Amino acid sequence: MTDTATTPWFLTGNFAPVHDELTVHDLPVTGSVPPSLSGRYLRNGSNPKAPTQHWFFGDGMVHGIRLEDGRAEWYKNRWVRTTKLAKGLDAMDGEAMLDPTASAANTHVLAHAGRIWTLEEGHFPYEIDRDLDTIGCDDFDGRLTSAFTAHPKLCPETGELHFFGYSPIAPHLTYHVLDAAGRLVHSAPITVPRGTMMHDFMITRDHAIFMDLPVVFDFDNPGAPIRWDDHYGARIGIVPRHGTDADIRWFEVDPCYVFHPLNAYVEGDTVVCDVGRHESMWRNGMNDFPPSFLHRWTFDLGTGSVHEQQLDEVAHGFPRVDDRVQGLRHRYGWGVAPRDGGRVLLDDRVAGVVVKWDLSAGSQSVFDLGPDSHPGEFVFVQDGPDAGEDEGWAMGLVYDAATDSSDLVILDASAPGSEPVARVHLPRRVPFGFHGSWIDDAVLPET
Ligand SMILES: [Fe+2]
Repeated sequence: MTDTATTPWFLTGNFAPVHDELTVHDLPVTGSVPPSLSGRYLRNGSNPKAPTQHWFFGDGMVHGIRLEDGRAEWYKNRWVRTTKLAKGLDAMDGEAMLDPTASAANTHVLAHAGRIWTLEEGHFPYEIDRDLDTIGCDDFDGRLTSAFTAHPKLCPETGELHFFGYSPIAPHLTYHVLDAAGRLVHSAPITVPRGTMMHDFMITRDHAIFMDLPVVFDFDNPGAPIRWDDHYGARIGIVPRHGTDADIRWFEVDPCYVFHPLNAYVEGDTVVCDVGRHESMWRNGMNDFPPSFLHRWTFDLGTGSVHEQQLDEVAHGFPRVDDRVQGLRHRYGWGVAPRDGGRVLLDDRVAGVVVKWDLSAGSQSVFDLGPDSHPGEFVFVQDGPDAGEDEGWAMGLVYDAATDSSDLVILDASAPGSEPVARVHLPRRVPFGFHGSWIDDAVLPET
């Protein structure tokens, strides 16, 4: 039995890790899997094997479901075999922090250049194969000199993967680009005043956009080595794609934190950034986690002016757009929110809903999956190459607290409020996790 009085919250309930690796074929489905869906839904998360001090630091485990010909062909889950896992390192051990291969590999999983990457923002990426088995760590022929963010941005027009690395040690920020073949073709250090925790970033058709926000490293303060700093300020750096430190322009914004933007795009002389804005982060320790609300920053590149606007009152997490509009003007967005309209996300006691934003109409709608449902991140999957921006499916893992079980839920993205198209019943609960991707066979064919 778990002693919940002394066990950290991230080792209890559906945050608790699972301890085995399964392979189960021919999963039961309620409804019907759209027959045109051929590929894998993969989702990464923290599933600590070694001792860990925070949910964010647990060893990465990928859960995957393969869909083909209207069937849910398999479910698999695999730890990512990292140096950290092999050695049983705590992420806060000096060895884990200094060894670039000692990734938790727990934050995201995505495909680029015919390969599948598991990512965590403090280390090098790890590649896994189509069956979720680990291939190994990659430093791009020794050319990668920084960590690799868990939130790279794949340009739908060029096929480039733009990314960055941040560090408490100088250089604190480095901008990188992989070309469509997966070769590291651009690396440029960017000057910032000190190391800040830079979880995500944005691209437009023309730019990369960095968020230098007041969550700073403070290793002289062992009780809070990452903390809010009221004096640091907050600035957004906009640099031309493939640009360098000499090209960047910084814009001051009101202090805040952003874990996840929704998307950014260029409109005339302005850059528009829709982001999940937290009023602060970790001001009073690492359990101080205010909710995020969708905000729009508009940066006028001609006049240098900045405009900030809150777009709605929905406390949300996991914002995503259709991957086909990454860096381009979006109309729709996807997220999750508390079912009760409150401000608490990802709690065993607070159920959630899937949110669909219509930014053109200035409205949002929900898919309510039931009073005990806890949806994680949902991703949009288009219904064929010519489909419109919400013509397809929204797909994600949902934990049901009443039955202690998990489903892959497939929604008709164009019909908020409708019942799921399919619920693929998984052979075990899947712990709450972080980010994932639909990896279509058109992108990564079966071999
Ligand atoms: Fe993230």
